[in-house]
Amino acid sequence: MPFPPDSHTDTKVFDLLEIERIRQTTGLQLIASENFTSPAVMRATGSILTNKYAEGYPGKRYYGGNTNADVIEALAIERVKQLFGAEHANVQPHSGASANMAVYLGLLNPGDTIMGLSLDHGGHLTHGSPVNASGILYDFKSYGVIPGDERIDFDNLRELALAHRPKMIVAGTTSYPRRLDPEPFRAIADEVGALLMFDIAHLAGLVAGGAHPNPVPYADVVTFTTHKTLRGPRGGCILSKAQHAQVIDKAVFPGSQGGPLEHVIAAKAVAFHEALDPSFKDYAHQIVKNASALAAALAAEGFRLVSGGTDNHLMVVDLRPFDAECTGKVAQVVLDEAGITLNKNTVPDDPRSPFVTSGVRIGTPSVTTQGMKEAEMPVIASLIARTLRHRDDKAEVARIRAEVADLCAKFPVYPNPL
Ligand SMILES: Cc1ncc(COP(=O)(O)O)c(C=O)c1O
Repeated sequence: MPFPPDSHTDTKVFDLLEIERIRQTTGLQLIASENFTSPAVMRATGSILTNKYAEGYPGKRYYGGNTNADVIEALAIERVKQLFGAEHANVQPHSGASANMAVYLGLLNPGDTIMGLSLDHGGHLTHGSPVNASGILYDFKSYGVIPGDERIDFDNLRELALAHRPKMIVAGTTSYPRRLDPEPFRAIADEVGALLMFDIAHLAGLVAGGAHPNPVPYADVVTFTTHKTLRGPRGGCILSKAQHAQVIDKAVFPGSQGGPLEHVIAAKAVAFHEALDPSFKDYAHQIVKNASALAAALAAEGFRLVSGGTDNHLMVVDLRPFDAECTGKVAQVVLDEAGITLNKNTVPDDPRSPFVTSGVRIGTPSVTTQGMKEAEMPVIASLIARTLRHRDDKAEVARIRAEVADLCAKFPVYPNPL
């Protein structure tokens, strides 16, 4: 049976994809968890392997016809092990959340105690939020940041660990702008006999490029997403010590997933290859330099940076000193109108709800992929400040939208047409 003759001209979808391409490439993409993948990564993601079922692992599949999928998945595994110096890798998790849930399933029992950074201090939903399966199935105790200093409170983490004796400590963040050194987490985990899981969803690209400490030698398990700073396709990955290899693999399949997305695994292999290239080190370091420059420029515009600045690819900006009336929600909407895309974010101990918030989170992975450097960061900070100052002036916001498009036109990320 042939495909319907108009399937390749499904104008509704493909017109929208073109509009989305224009949105992404003519605006400033400052969402800290996003990036622009290479055309090669997109080519593999949209490849023929989307047709293939490959339940199981290379050499041990439940379906025939997996000769090529086996080689590709094995290549992805080898490359990611080399990239992070890991003993074992599972490249099948469909996402970061799936990777985390598989680790809990494999290494713990429902009801076990786990410790994770609280959501409103920079943790992730899968680190024990009551609305997430992690918080429903496991007994999470949250640790937080020191008031004022806004960096992880290791004294309190240790006290809580001694009191609750968790089976696992989760280190990892979603909106925390500072270095996450593995040593203090390992020391506390050892003191209480807990497993240590590091979730470097956000930091994977920085770690791969040597711009952030690598937790792999210290942690029992490391999970991450491949689509943030690592600049790969949307997906997850688990690295572990060899002793946990079997339980982790069983927890991913058949424990929590069915057939792996081999087309995405092919794209992960491409992204790992790109990250192994020496140029990726420059990229990772430039992301951090750009974030520092942007944070300094925003501070000069009158914003408060949570924890006073950033060591990584993101910053959390407290809007209150700039304008007490301007919530994160309001800022997100008007900045989007100006072509500046970021997300509202709570600040530590935010009096406003997560739907309103007093802050925004800003990241530099995408603009760095475009080739922007320190010189462009004060320009971006000024565009943000102007938009918020003139948020009720539609004509000024439209003028800023045009300036944003001009800036982006100087840093084309993709050839047109793609
Ligand atoms: C620390 C952390 N873990 C896990 C995830 C979940 O990743 P995904 O959205 O791919 O499920 C995220 C996503 O933002 C994250 O920041």
